[in-house]
Amino acid sequence: MGVLKGKVALVTGGGTGIGKAIAQRFYAEGASVAICGRRAEVLAAAVPEIGDDLSRVMHDSVDVTSAEQVVAFLAAVVDCFGGLDILVNNAGIMRFGALTEGGEQLWRDLLETNLLGPYRLMCEAVPHMRRRGGGSIVNLSSLAGSKSLPRAGVYCTSKAALNMMSQVAALEWAADNIRVNLIAPGLVEDTELADPIFGPDGVPDFYARLRDLHPLGRSGSPPDVAEAALFLASEQSSWITGVVLPLDGGRHLATNRPVL
Ligand SMILES: NC(=O)c1ccc[n+]([C@@H]2O[C@H](COP(=O)([O-])OP(=O)(O)OC[C@H]3O[C@@H](n4cnc5c(N)ncnc54)[C@H](OP(=O)(O)O)[C@@H]3O)[C@@H](O)[C@H]2O)c1
Repeated sequence: MGVLKGKVALVTGGGTGIGKAIAQRFYAEGASVAICGRRAEVLAAAVPEIGDDLSRVMHDSVDVTSAEQVVAFLAAVVDCFGGLDILVNNAGIMRFGALTEGGEQLWRDLLETNLLGPYRLMCEAVPHMRRRGGGSIVNLSSLAGSKSLPRAGVYCTSKAALNMMSQVAALEWAADNIRVNLIAPGLVEDTELADPIFGPDGVPDFYARLRDLHPLGRSGSPPDVAEAALFLASEQSSWITGVVLPLDGGRHLATNRPVL
């Protein structure tokens, strides 16, 4: 226990789902944790679930599509905790629609949040990490970043672009001892990601349809992702940079349908 003792971590989208589980796990390992998202009330409710010691948890309402808000939040985190060692770009949105359906606005919405959001956070975080002699950046990609899913093409593209941007960043910042890795989950239940698409009533059916596609026989949970994020954020992975870690019960390997 305590592998992140004394470290400072920033988790975007830390008020719900995967981000909240990551913040909880990092706190439990001794880190000071800053979370952000757009909804202040959701963040405030998450704080006591992350940890009791309020001197090690801070939160602020931040929209990652706003460069001004991102700059102000990074400054506030460094002011509060004295630096930054770990950045988890977890905030993301998913929308469905055939390529010709959503128009340019769908592209703008998804790329602003899923690609330019992490870009803004990384640009602001890296100078602080350099001052600490290094750091670890973990970006939340998706199986959809390497597999084309019909009617999810814009989301797929946003995650594929995030993969490439992160891998270039891994090379550009390796000399600064700043590592950049990605996690590519399959279906992770108990998050809000699919709510805008299916509504609360439709989500259980969506989960049920996807569960069997994962060869290990189950979908993932936010704590599953938090374990992987902890490994990539900590010194346990100190010689790993630029990887896209599939975290999907084997779903990335192949179709589940036997050919014989
Ligand atoms: N669940 C899955 O099956 C799955 C699979 C593969 C990859 N992922 C990825 O995992 C990440 C986390 O998703 P999740 O499943 O945990 O879904 P979630 O519960 O919807 O979490 C997304 C978080 O991002 C925040 N967010 C969204 N837009 C934002 C913005 N513009 N600025 C700041 N914060 C913003 C949301 O809070 P606010 O709404 O309050 O801003 C929310 O807390 C995403 O990047 C997603 O693409 C999830």
